[in-house]
Amino acid sequence: MEQPTLFLLVLCLALGAHGLSVEKCNLTGRWKNDLGSNMTISAVDEKGNFTGSYNTSVADTPNKIQLSPLVGFQHLTNPIGQPTFGFTVNWTFSDSITVFTGQCFVDKNGKEVLKTMWLLRSRVDNIENDWKATRVGTNEFTRLEPQ
Ligand code: BTN
Repeated sequence: MEQPTLFLLVLCLALGAHGLSVEKCNLTGRWKNDLGSNMTISAVDEKGNFTGSYNTSVADTPNKIQLSPLVGFQHLTNPIGQPTFGFTVNWTFSDSITVFTGQCFVDKNGKEVLKTMWLLRSRVDNIENDWKATRVGTNEFTRLEPQ
């Protein structure tokens, strides 16, 4: 084989392999975040819907923290790799709701990590207090046990 042809063949193989490699990242399972909160996400269905439960380690209420339900969507791309997602937690022990949006990444060590941003809405007694009803932040989740 001529040298330029060989070079092109190697180049195509390298580019092809890179283009086809899809970093798989699966939301299903048990996760822990940087605050020490835990959550469990059930199987994601064929439309990207999922449900789960959230056990927060912190709360802005004197009430006893209780396990709270979550519902969400994973964005289904084809092929599925490092997908975006969003979910809502309906706190059962507090008059507040938190929405999370994020992306599932595979880090340089091959570990899955969920990078999220959240928006929490607390109930306030009147519209004059609306200004203090929302908080935002970020959370990073790592898997509690390997899949
Ligand atoms: C409340 O305080 O009214 C309900 C609990 C809110 C917990 C928040 S949600 C965002 C942040 N991440 C967590 O894991 N817990 C806090």
